Amino acid sequence: MFGLSTLARVASELRRDVGAAHQRDPAARGVSSTEILTSWPGVHAVISHRIAHVLFEAGVPLAPRSIAYISRSITGVEIHPAAKIGKGLLIDHGSGVVIGETAEIGDDVTIYQGVTLGGTGFATGKRHPTLGDEVTVGSGAKLLGPIEVGRGAKIGANSVVITDVPADATVVGNPGHVVRVDGRKAVGPDADWIHLPDPVAEAIKRLSERIESLDSRVAELSGDETEAAPVRPLRSVRGPNPAGG
Ligand SMILES: CC(C)(COP(=O)(O)OP(=O)(O)OC[C@H]1O[C@@H](n2cnc3c(N)ncnc32)[C@H](O)[C@@H]1OP(=O)(O)O)[C@@H](O)C(=O)NCCC(=O)NCCS
Repeated sequence: MFGLSTLARVASELRRDVGAAHQRDPAARGVSSTEILTSWPGVHAVISHRIAHVLFEAGVPLAPRSIAYISRSITGVEIHPAAKIGKGLLIDHGSGVVIGETAEIGDDVTIYQGVTLGGTGFATGKRHPTLGDEVTVGSGAKLLGPIEVGRGAKIGANSVVITDVPADATVVGNPGHVVRVDGRKAVGPDADWIHLPDPVAEAIKRLSERIESLDSRVAELSGDETEAAPVRPLRSVRGPNPAGG
């Protein structure tokens, strides 16, 4: 079923998980590994998942889901035993994180509290996100569907992401859109997915202006001083820049 090599693998994964807290959680600086192992809920959730996943892969009934359930009750982190998680995952603070059945997470990923790696409905098969190595997902972000998040990408807190994210990109907002690539402001047609031109509004605006000018021309020619009914200017439907924080 599983032997020494599996145990050795799990032990090395544990070391890397604790190391991840040391490296990426500022609150863990100067804290001993024993203290992290005993009091970091995100680390407990990942360790429990590693055990549940090994048992799940080995076809052991009941135990994987029971471990996941107990871990969820204690840490507030729900990870399906089938989810594939790479080395060095840090779930900072823990609470409110949900990682779905077909989610895949690369190495050295950081996930903050309240993150969902979820499906978008009742689809079966691959329906949860795949995160590349070294991805960071900010608190409260929802990543939905079988999307791919490229290596090193950062997802801003509270973003809702439903499309693929390129490597090294920073995505913020709802719907999530790219605001930085490799630390530089995103440019080009895909840079802003919210503020797209609205051709219908533009056409109506032009027509309004034309009617207004024809009205005043008719009034001038007929000598009729009666004021034409005012054409209300179109109100901009654009909201504040969603990348504005
Ligand atoms: C997105 C994030 C990772 C920063 O990434 P970055 O590549 O350094 O990006 P910047 O800070 O330069 O921000 C890029 C733009 O996105 C905006 N932005 C940053 N985070 C945002 C967010 N969560 N929601 C909306 N907009 C955001 C910035 O204002 C900036 O806007 P601008 O282009 O108009 O100047 C960071 O802001 C974030 O959300 N981190 C999560 C942290 C977290 O969850 N902490 C919980 C600790 S308990």
